[in-house]
Amino acid sequence: MVEFKINGKQVKAEKGETVLAVAIREGFAIPTLCHHDVLGADGRCRLCVVEVRRGNRKRIVTSCLYPVENSIDVFTESDDVKLVRMTVLELLLARCPFSEVIQYLAKQYGVNTVRYTKDNDKGKCILCNTCVKTCETLVGVAALGMTGKGPLKKVSTPFDEPSDVCIGCGACVVACPTGHIYMEDRDGFRTIWRKKFELARCPACGRYHAPVEQLEFISKKSGVAIDELRICQNCK
Ligand code: SF4
Ligand code: FES
Repeated sequence: MVEFKINGKQVKAEKGETVLAVAIREGFAIPTLCHHDVLGADGRCRLCVVEVRRGNRKRIVTSCLYPVENSIDVFTESDDVKLVRMTVLELLLARCPFSEVIQYLAKQYGVNTVRYTKDNDKGKCILCNTCVKTCETLVGVAALGMTGKGPLKKVSTPFDEPSDVCIGCGACVVACPTGHIYMEDRDGFRTIWRKKFELARCPACGRYHAPVEQLEFISKKSGVAIDELRICQNCK
């Protein structure tokens, strides 16, 4: 068992837990973008910084990666923390000026102006890699990846072409913290990552609810008959 303080409150944690996990459990709000409850942390957005003090030493660390330690003092909203978060948000806003989530967080921290040149070609993507990990680890198809280098780095399907392995499940859309990934369901078809998927219609209520390719994928993996999967969650 590890004991330390967060904002003056004495807390207990298991060895190996992160400061972020304990802070959230104890009711302290820390903003995050790239942290995912199931996939864990990569430490890419740097928004979750906190101040860790031990004696006279103090450091700014990323709380989603920082393991708890005995006798440290953690501060989630110190002046230094706020300053770092403001800088991070200003940079994120310069990269993704149209991201509503980033606009909202920037406003919360009083970031009203951006001193850097704004990008107009990055959409809302902060390169957090969550969609790539979701596709690979949670869905198990690996249709997405990071391509390019430096300012040209982006997330996409191989060669920006419709992916052979993408099943159109939309898990990446749900996982993306900034709303970058475009997906549209219309007239019985789903469009995502430049690919069009036929949607299956529930035989009971007639609602379009999932791409046929996704149901075929699940059927193959689980052994459940495709006709059973065609029935939507509401009608099961
Ligand atoms: S599309 Fe979304 S989830 Fe994927 S890397 Fe960009 S911000 Fe992260
Ligand atoms: S949430 Fe910790 S670095 Fe993004």
